[in-house]
Amino acid sequence: MIKQLAKAVGYSCRFFYFRAVLNDITSYINAKLNERIEGHSLRTLNTYVQLVDFCSNDYLGFARSADLQSIFQAEISKHSYSLTGSTGSRLISGNDPFTEDLENYISHFHQAEAALIFNSGYDANVGIFSSLPQRGDTIITDELIHASIIDGARLSFANRYSFKHNDLNSLEEKLKVAKGRIFIAVESIYSMDGDTAPLQKIAALAERYSAALIVDEAHAVGIFGEQGQGLVHQLGLQDQVFARIITFGKALGCHGAAILGSQALRSYLINFARSFIYTTAASPLSHLSVYSAYQYLRRNNFKRDIELKIAAFKEAAGQLPGLFINSESPIQCLLVEGNQKAKRLEAALQDAGFAVRAILHPTVAEGKERLRFCLHTFNSDNEIKLLLKKVAETFKD
Ligand SMILES: Cc1ncc(COP(=O)(O)O)c(C=O)c1O
Repeated sequence: MIKQLAKAVGYSCRFFYFRAVLNDITSYINAKLNERIEGHSLRTLNTYVQLVDFCSNDYLGFARSADLQSIFQAEISKHSYSLTGSTGSRLISGNDPFTEDLENYISHFHQAEAALIFNSGYDANVGIFSSLPQRGDTIITDELIHASIIDGARLSFANRYSFKHNDLNSLEEKLKVAKGRIFIAVESIYSMDGDTAPLQKIAALAERYSAALIVDEAHAVGIFGEQGQGLVHQLGLQDQVFARIITFGKALGCHGAAILGSQALRSYLINFARSFIYTTAASPLSHLSVYSAYQYLRRNNFKRDIELKIAAFKEAAGQLPGLFINSESPIQCLLVEGNQKAKRLEAALQDAGFAVRAILHPTVAEGKERLRFCLHTFNSDNEIKLLLKKVAETFKD
């Protein structure tokens, strides 16, 4: 009887302890969410009504293109088997000749020795930065580098430094004290600012200090380079850059990514990049969409179209001098100090029919909150003018 009682008391104590632990976790969750609410920075998921798109990464309109859809359908009809699932990781059952052909096609297009496809740009960056630099090595990143590179570098055991944005002196200071093998990580076009890295000068510094330069070209593919091969290609730096990360989810309008580099790097990543090894490969359907997008890109001159839109935007933005971050890319940012003001402007523009996103702290540094405008080949010049007229009116309030 006593034994049974003790057992029952034991159970209920454990139960109450268990409930207390779960309550404690929930209190932590609520406290963190309240911090975000008070800081006007709570992230929520929304399903957007049809507004004029000034926020997506679909710079060339590929994700909405009926012509690209037709190329894709024609590709699908060439295959009689199911394309919906890859059935496993690339190393188990998820590899097929088509995926490898696509990698060869991509490496040829970007003039690289080899390419390895990852399920996303996030996975590609985490894969290379977590697996290649070792304890005692050094990773030096631009202070505005994408979160996926920061996360990859954190997973490595290497020393980490960041240098002031696009500042060569600051980069050199870090290079002087770096130990082991040195890796420099930059974006050719910065995702949150839209500005361009001084790649030639960075490549020269990398050579002087024997550092491997890794360039994330997520926002440069489709926009820079003769046929959209990226900024590294446009500048002829293919041989000075150790690896490039290209993504398919932005100008190409699909999903996924690849790392471009040597055959040895490709084999290394297949062996050591955990975000490549331990995940189901993308479906053949997804790879076919990427192949179709590349074909479409090569057939047309989208570069000129997007350049015209950037020029139209910059001309109309002249009415707000000094407020935009200097950018030659489809990403144009208006600095608006404070989360609250940025959100207020975002709401006013949405009410006027424009899909524009405020980029808030902590995504960007405090005081650097902004409205981020993404330009597209399908935005009409009139839409651009009306947008900036509304921005100028609202900004003054
Ligand atoms: C510079 C940069 N690198 C990598 C990524 C991640 O790419 P993905 O969206 O394919 O995961 C992004 C996208 O947000 C990006 O802007």
